[in-house]
Amino acid sequence: MRLDKFLAKSGYGPRKFARKLILGGEVQVNGSIVKIPSYHINPEEDRVTVDGRPVVYFEHLYIALYKPAGYVTSTKDSDNPTVLDLVSDMPFNRKVFPAGRLDKDAEGLVILTSDGEFAHRLTHPKYHIPKTYLVTLSVPLGDEKLDLIRRGKVTLADGYNPLPALVEVVDALKVRIVVFEGKYHLVKRIFAAVGSKVLHLKRIAIGNLELGDLQPGEYRLLTPQEVDLLRKHGDVSATTN
Ligand code: URA
Repeated sequence: MRLDKFLAKSGYGPRKFARKLILGGEVQVNGSIVKIPSYHINPEEDRVTVDGRPVVYFEHLYIALYKPAGYVTSTKDSDNPTVLDLVSDMPFNRKVFPAGRLDKDAEGLVILTSDGEFAHRLTHPKYHIPKTYLVTLSVPLGDEKLDLIRRGKVTLADGYNPLPALVEVVDALKVRIVVFEGKYHLVKRIFAAVGSKVLHLKRIAIGNLELGDLQPGEYRLLTPQEVDLLRKHGDVSATTN
């Protein structure tokens, strides 16, 4: 890979900026200053430093974002701000996209990545990655109705029977639900089928990954361990279903 491209992808972008660093003699490869932007390096083996600081290269980006209500989870929208607007200050030069959807009026955890294979694992129906939501209902629901959801005995308006879900009561109008499939408006449609509107929807976890301390509009990079765990979740759920 060209040295300027390597730097641009590793947080020293755009490429014009990376070139400036190289021509300015601030970049060393394996201990020697290299002033040639097109110089070829092997990202796995060569040690590159900028101003003495090692450059850590990674192939893909994995981001946890707290999507506020009002943003759409797509890469382009002519009428609304998108989740990409929230990461536009990111220093890493990768094209990311949302792995899965969250309604415009909902808030909470969205994963953005540049890794198509990883996004596929998070979103393909065969992997059944659990997603946890905090839901505010319009009317309280008794245990009888919640049990229908728990046992997979709800029939949606279009005739579909969602998989059993975990449901925990938080207070009279609040429940926590874990669903194991990704379907359009799934949580809203499940509660509509048992007689309640969803007034507020917040996704608080995807697999083992929790929203944690992120605030609305904030994002952070996932650690390699978090990425691995989400990947393994996909492996396990695909082989047990
Ligand atoms: N269920 C919904 O109804 N909406 C979402 O955005 C996600 C799950």
